[in-house]
Amino acid sequence: MRTLDDLGDLHGKRVVARVDFNVPLVNGEVGDDTRIRAALPTLFRLRERGVAKITLLAHLGRPKGKDPALSLAPVAARLGELLGESVRLVDEPEPADGSVVMVENVRFFAGETKDDEELARRYAQLGDVYVDDAFGAAHRAHSSNHALAKLLPSAAGLLLQQEVETLTKILEAPERPLVAIVGGAKVTDKLGVLEAFLDRADTVLVGGAMCFPFFKAQGHEVGASLCEEEGLEPAKRVLEAAGDKLRLPVDLVIGRAFDADTEVRQVDGVDVPDGWMGLDVGPRTVAAYGEAVAGAGTVFWNGPMGAFELAPFAAGTRGVAEAVAAAAGTTVVGGGDSAAALQQFGLGDQVTHLSTGGGASLELIEGKTLPGVEVLGR
Ligand code: 3PG
Ligand code: MG
Repeated sequence: MRTLDDLGDLHGKRVVARVDFNVPLVNGEVGDDTRIRAALPTLFRLRERGVAKITLLAHLGRPKGKDPALSLAPVAARLGELLGESVRLVDEPEPADGSVVMVENVRFFAGETKDDEELARRYAQLGDVYVDDAFGAAHRAHSSNHALAKLLPSAAGLLLQQEVETLTKILEAPERPLVAIVGGAKVTDKLGVLEAFLDRADTVLVGGAMCFPFFKAQGHEVGASLCEEEGLEPAKRVLEAAGDKLRLPVDLVIGRAFDADTEVRQVDGVDVPDGWMGLDVGPRTVAAYGEAVAGAGTVFWNGPMGAFELAPFAAGTRGVAEAVAAAAGTTVVGGGDSAAALQQFGLGDQVTHLSTGGGASLELIEGKTLPGVEVLGR
């Protein structure tokens, strides 16, 4: 992958940079600025290299046309605070005054998500060189991160570079033992990751509602638990192939409903009675998983252990998060829900690498080629 050093002398040049500022908004303000902060090292480095102007391209949500609720205005304001200088937001990808300019949500423009070249040519007028730091969007082939990269001298920013190097190392040269923790609601979303780790990891710890197709396949009662029907066959296949690398929970926290005020019980074992749903892993599971994590050379974690957004069912995810934070080995957390959980527990800065990519980090771990990375290849 080409990196900033490959761009040569940047003095006086205009840079057009793609970033992933797809952040949650709360009451019209940025709810979590992790992704904005993560792009700062690249912006500061470009400044040090003497660039004259930076124009930022970013998307927010999945608008159909120009949706004012998905304007980047709150994002430009937050970035301005972090940079200590105002960031000018412009409606169209057209040259504008200002040393840091942000173009409105690129998904407002027809053709962006179709990798349209005409649109990319408009973006290309905004810079002499192109820098892509949008790791979270690297699994998309869109105009602003793919077609555009072919039109200008282009390179990865520091965040994109670090994400790709860290995640690739887990696949190719991890410190062993490599322990993967895979959670979440649906086993079909995580099959590629499970399979990649069953090949490469020493231990794979599974949690979240994606366990129930496994338990059902083993003949357990799942009660009213979320149990993805399409997951049953894949779960059977994985169980047959996995041997003792794959570990499932040994106890559960169950509730009457997906609700913080519901009746709650702890069960030793994994059979869920009728009228109850499994909503978290139990303390014996947390202890066992924690022990595996403590002895790991490398830990990769993606996906919560239960419904951590509901207080009575947060202990499993919290316990695993604390074990990951305390682990002596290299710890890497995939983006999305597990990143949000880690931040919720205030542990975001206690892991080696917290990925800014959800889908992108999973696809990279699955061994897929990311279009936004490939296009920056040497
Ligand atoms: C994300 O938040 O997952 C990335 O920014 C990509 O967004 P998308 O899934 O809407 O393409
Ligand atoms: Mg996504």
